[in-house]
Amino acid sequence: MRSIGEPFQLFYTFFKVSVGNFLEERFVQKNFHKNLRFKKVDSDLAEGYKEKSPYQISKEFLQQKGEINIHVYGETYLSTMYKVAKRIGISTNDHVVEMGCGRGRTSLFLASHFGCKVHGVDWIKAFTENASQVSARNSLSCATFSCNNMIEEDLSFATVIYLYGTCLDDSTILTLIKKFSALPKGTKIITVSYSLLEYCEKPIFFLKDHFTARYPWGRTEIFIKELR
Ligand SMILES: C[S@@+](CC[C@H](N)C(=O)[O-])C[C@H]1O[C@@H](n2cnc3c(N)ncnc32)[C@H](O)[C@@H]1O
Repeated sequence: MRSIGEPFQLFYTFFKVSVGNFLEERFVQKNFHKNLRFKKVDSDLAEGYKEKSPYQISKEFLQQKGEINIHVYGETYLSTMYKVAKRIGISTNDHVVEMGCGRGRTSLFLASHFGCKVHGVDWIKAFTENASQVSARNSLSCATFSCNNMIEEDLSFATVIYLYGTCLDDSTILTLIKKFSALPKGTKIITVSYSLLEYCEKPIFFLKDHFTARYPWGRTEIFIKELR
């Protein structure tokens, strides 16, 4: 039986997320849209989701796949991505791979704001196609995208990997760890809400940094590891 508090809890969560998103967008406009190139990229990207939101697109994709948990799409706040990039000291020499890049907003932000190379991979074609078009229209050749299952993606060129995959199953996580373990020493792996270390039998990474940052549902832990 549903408790009487449940609708209030849902309303409270919806309200909290809406306020958080509103404040975040104000912050983005005030701070990151000063970079006119990113402002143009960001508005081009938003244009593609006027009819259908990325949440709806992801939900339909997961429904078609027969998944039970279909409400798993979410985006990293750009203010959080900025904090992560500063913390790891991202530079124009870096090549970031965003595993499960969604509609590519964070990847496009990193490429336009920090001038690093970025490759976003997602298995939803509508996301990667639109992000590739936005990148091409804005001559942002350092941001590329591919539609693929992340466990099959070539990572050999990556210096930094960002994985916000709070809903990945254990078998996917273990396959990813095996892929990561083949990467050169010094490659940085960033994960959200879990560290990966608890999944490793051998100490292939060391924890370089650990802090909390804002996500739409609240403050969450971020783990930065480096390949040994
Ligand atoms: C929580 S969203 C994160 C989006 C983006 N990285 C961000 O931080 O704003 C996770 C994304 O990973 C994608 N995804 C999940 N499993 C995947 C897989 N095995 N291969 C490729 N993409 C995957 C989903 O389609 C979704 O767009």
